[in-house]
Amino acid sequence: RYNLEISPKGNLSWEGIDLLDLIGMYGTPLYVMNERMIRENINRFKNALQKYFGENGLIIYASKAFCTKAMCQIAKQEGIGLDVVSGGELYTALSVDFPTDKIFFHGNNKTYDELEMAVEKEVKIVIDNFDELEMLSLICETKAKRADVLIRVKPGIEAHTHEFIRTGQIDSKFGVALENGEAFSMVKKILEKKQLNLLGLHCHIGSQIFETAPFKLAARVMLEFILKIKKELGYEIEILDLGGGFGIKYTAFDQPPQLEKFIEAIAEEVEEFCQQKGLKKPFIVLEPGRSIVGEAGITLYTIGSIKEIPNVRNYASVDGGMTDNPRYALYQAKYDAYVVENPLGEKTKVYTIAGRCCESGDILIKDIKLPELKTGQHLAILATGAYNYSMSSNYNRFPRPAVVLLKDGQAKVIVKRETYEDIVRNDLEI
Ligand code: LLP
Repeated sequence: RYNLEISPKGNLSWEGIDLLDLIGMYGTPLYVMNERMIRENINRFKNALQKYFGENGLIIYASKAFCTKAMCQIAKQEGIGLDVVSGGELYTALSVDFPTDKIFFHGNNKTYDELEMAVEKEVKIVIDNFDELEMLSLICETKAKRADVLIRVKPGIEAHTHEFIRTGQIDSKFGVALENGEAFSMVKKILEKKQLNLLGLHCHIGSQIFETAPFKLAARVMLEFILKIKKELGYEIEILDLGGGFGIKYTAFDQPPQLEKFIEAIAEEVEEFCQQKGLKKPFIVLEPGRSIVGEAGITLYTIGSIKEIPNVRNYASVDGGMTDNPRYALYQAKYDAYVVENPLGEKTKVYTIAGRCCESGDILIKDIKLPELKTGQHLAILATGAYNYSMSSNYNRFPRPAVVLLKDGQAKVIVKRETYEDIVRNDLEI
């Protein structure tokens, strides 16, 4: 899976690199990202969008999934855009001269400083609420600048994995609702402000979605709104941004559709609607995060203490945990793993892989069948490329692991391992 191989020495290897050698060089815990797979994923999205929408579409990588300078450089080289949700993500993108016209700035509570930075750098701003609208127009006025904006709409569809519901989704901290007219009055308000240029509408219906139907429904609901704006206000919305959320395979149980299928389904819906209603096809933006980096990352750990509690549970603890991957603790997320030294060994025992934080919930994988583990062996947890490094913390003052990027049989450090010195860097004595 995920292009993992066996090295001549019989160890797990990736991109022609023996992972035990990699551990020898960089230590554990270690985040390993596969540059070829990242670029391939980007290109699958790009090609599919190109096939159905030609030049009339753009992929913007949702950088929250994994945001570093190197990742922004890859996105820049591939010619895609970027979705940022904070001054920090924006700063990272700007630090590698990311083309600002392809940056979309999201967030439900952007600060004055962040908006100021966004206006100065001329990135596109996805307005979330009326307070932000007012603050933004004030900033534009003060700076005598005009901002390109989109509106974050709650389309009334919420999807998670296999299920999706069409309800009043008014109870969400993101965006303005369609059903109570909030979104429509925001359109009118923006059109009154000469310092704001209303380019488009945005929605995001959820994450790790395994069905194409909710995307089709979202496209239809949004297109209906675009049509209403055209009919009632005579204004043409150019951009329709349908967000991200395309599901990936974490374990053998996950069966997401091929990502091309998502785009095909959206294209069908847009085509049909626009033809039927005589609407000009909008420029389509999609914001994949997880589906670009998720399967392109693994995390390597060293196995420490092993605690076999008869008839209860076998704990194998590793030298990382919820500080480098909080997804089990937060969402009971499921992962698969291999023993680096024994990838093909017969799976004879069930283990719970625990971290080393001072917290019972600090678990990485609950109940996974593996070959008999020995202290000192190494474990590779798969599909950790998204929302692991980006959600990591220094709880218990554990330094964050390094991130290495693999390409053509070579490894390159793209984020240095934190040191104890880093841990106390901002501390001041009394
Ligand atoms: N666009 C918007 C507006 C979003 O809110 C998100 C994710 C995305 C795009 C990208 O979604 P993706 O393609 O990566 O599913 N921490 C959680 C995921 C939170 C996602 C939040 N928004 C996790 O670890 O599963």
